[in-house]
Amino acid sequence: MSRKFWVGGNWKMNGDKKGIEEIANFLKAGPLDPNVEVVVGVPAIYLEYTKNLLPPNVVVAAQNCYKVSKGAFTGEISPAMLSDIGVKWVILGHSERRHIFGETDELIAEKVAHAQESRLNVVACIGEKLEEREGGETEEVVFSQIKGIAEVVVDWTRIVIAYEPVWAIGTGQTATPQQAQEVHGILRDWLRKHVSDKVANDIRIVYGGSVTGANCVELSKEPDIDGFLVGGASLKPEFVQIINAKQ
Ligand code: G3P
Repeated sequence: MSRKFWVGGNWKMNGDKKGIEEIANFLKAGPLDPNVEVVVGVPAIYLEYTKNLLPPNVVVAAQNCYKVSKGAFTGEISPAMLSDIGVKWVILGHSERRHIFGETDELIAEKVAHAQESRLNVVACIGEKLEEREGGETEEVVFSQIKGIAEVVVDWTRIVIAYEPVWAIGTGQTATPQQAQEVHGILRDWLRKHVSDKVANDIRIVYGGSVTGANCVELSKEPDIDGFLVGGASLKPEFVQIINAKQ
């Protein structure tokens, strides 16, 4: 089975109603490659507003959610609330959730488990820090992260893995196609060994970390890069170029 190319935007804590309207307009204008699945990660407060502005071939994702459906968790949102407003995707384990907000592999696994119970599609983020790469620990780190996620996944068709080396996020220091392919390849091998051939063959493993209109085509040529999770560039018209990287 050929994997459908997947391109996500992650707006992080950026945007306002006027800016969201401008993004929706350039996505409507496109034209977007019909063979690409497009999902944009939107600040929770703007999910419904954005959902109603986007063209039908682009869907929204939450950038986070909690590990239970309701209760005394001030400030949190739940998968049930996302489903209630028709949101079907959520980004979990982003490096900023891990390294700024202190989310552990254990908490991320609990969130993935609950999102799965709630039938949400999950973009599960993993990636090593610069010092871990420089220390030769990349494989150990990403294997530990994907293991924690794999232990709770029951429906792999609802998972996209985003490999986002922390040292490439927001830095302009994009991983080379060879660096990204190397990690995507070992992640797919890990899934083949620890889950199944089918999951390894079918799952989308996407790259994130300073993807731009200038580097997306070369990255997209790598056999195990099935798309992107894009931060800064997803707020700009060049996001259309990134979506169309395979054309
Ligand atoms: O989730 C995607 C994000 O972390 C990448 O950000 O700005 O380097 O594309 P950026």
